[in-house]
Amino acid sequence: MGSRPLPETVPTTMSAMLLTGHGDIDTLVYRQDVSTPTPRAGEVLVKVTATAKNNTDRKAREGLYPTKDKGEVASFAMGGSPTLTFPRIQGADIVGRVVAVGDGVDAARLGERGLLDFNLYADQRRNINLTPDYYGHGADGGYAEYVAVPADQFHHVANPELSDGELAAMGMCSYQTAYHMMTSAGIKAGERVLVTGASGGVGTALIQLCRTIGAVPYALSQQDKAGPLLDLGAEAVLDRSDMSGFTEQVKAVTGGAPIDAVMDLVGGEMTDRFIDTMIFDMQARDSYPRLSIAGASGGNISEIMWTRIYLYQVQIFGVSHGTREEAEQLIAWIRGGQLKPVLHAAFKLSELHAAERYFVNRGSHYLGKIVIVPDSEWASHGAPHALEETS
Ligand SMILES: NC(=O)c1ccc[n+]([C@@H]2O[C@H](COP(=O)([O-])OP(=O)(O)OC[C@H]3O[C@@H](n4cnc5c(N)ncnc54)[C@H](OP(=O)(O)O)[C@@H]3O)[C@@H](O)[C@H]2O)c1
Repeated sequence: MGSRPLPETVPTTMSAMLLTGHGDIDTLVYRQDVSTPTPRAGEVLVKVTATAKNNTDRKAREGLYPTKDKGEVASFAMGGSPTLTFPRIQGADIVGRVVAVGDGVDAARLGERGLLDFNLYADQRRNINLTPDYYGHGADGGYAEYVAVPADQFHHVANPELSDGELAAMGMCSYQTAYHMMTSAGIKAGERVLVTGASGGVGTALIQLCRTIGAVPYALSQQDKAGPLLDLGAEAVLDRSDMSGFTEQVKAVTGGAPIDAVMDLVGGEMTDRFIDTMIFDMQARDSYPRLSIAGASGGNISEIMWTRIYLYQVQIFGVSHGTREEAEQLIAWIRGGQLKPVLHAAFKLSELHAAERYFVNRGSHYLGKIVIVPDSEWASHGAPHALEETS
């Protein structure tokens, strides 16, 4: 089955930010004559109102996903071959409204507001996702006025208390990754969980999700972010500016008890210090030490002794994205008001270069997410969240 023609209300061309190759920010080119996609069978066409920025946009652009040779320029290729081709429209965490449906999709969905589960799943399995890839990488994403996505992954979220920008800030790239980190490590209610990179998109999701299931999150961050992180649910905020006595810092806030599991987004030299916090008193534990790692903002290489790992029986889980089941659980929590958006600011799509620079050079006050709003939607969906200096 092919695509249906676009309804007359949808223009045949649109504005979009095209990623034209691996490289610096100039590889992102704003165009206003890009063909509007048409929904294929099983898809909906979404008029985009807000798309959250993720660190992966920059990493994919720069080709920073090596899996074998440290220096290789690489993107995701878990299914066997690279799926990032150019030009590509990036942007994973998409919110908007359904403006057309493909064959087999109920027309009652027209007008529905939703949030995309950003994964390009290889199959229909609900509890496993072995070849992570996503909209904005292996297929076009939301840095555009329109995007065509699978109807069953565009989840209806009515919740009028959430603006479109706020809903995008709860996108699955951060929240599903965070949740899959927790499910991989089998986090249970009552457990002490160290969350590193705590102020970022995944870190702020982890803090909330720990509280949602009754676990106790300890945030590693910078001291001037302590107030907002405590408000979000952190039990205590640990200071990453001085890691020399890190285990003592942890003991001071846990009453001397070890961390049960680490959710690591930092990697590099710090990961070994994080492991220390779990193994200093093995007799005080009643579970194996566990470390989930889903990011390496502090460095891609760590030196860790394997004897330390196997003698202390540290279980290490590599995490990318998550499963359909987990996305659906998160959507249920969003609909139920259990999760809160942490939205830092909105930028216009045409000003994505400025957003990228802001993201890379962000100050110590930064917490949570940036969202990108098509210029045509700015007045309704971007302006209320604009940074004062750019509005
Ligand atoms: N595997 C996956 O599926 C997946 C999915 C999403 C993201 N990721 C990765 O996970 C990581 C976090 O993603 P994110 O979207 O939350 O990114 P983010 O918003 O950029 O947050 C990263 C946080 O890490 C901390 N940090 C940055 N540089 C650091 C350094 N040199 N040393 C120690 N801490 C540092 C900062 O928090 P503080 O200032 O609070 O310390 C920063 O806010 C990224 O590396 C991203 O690429 C992976």
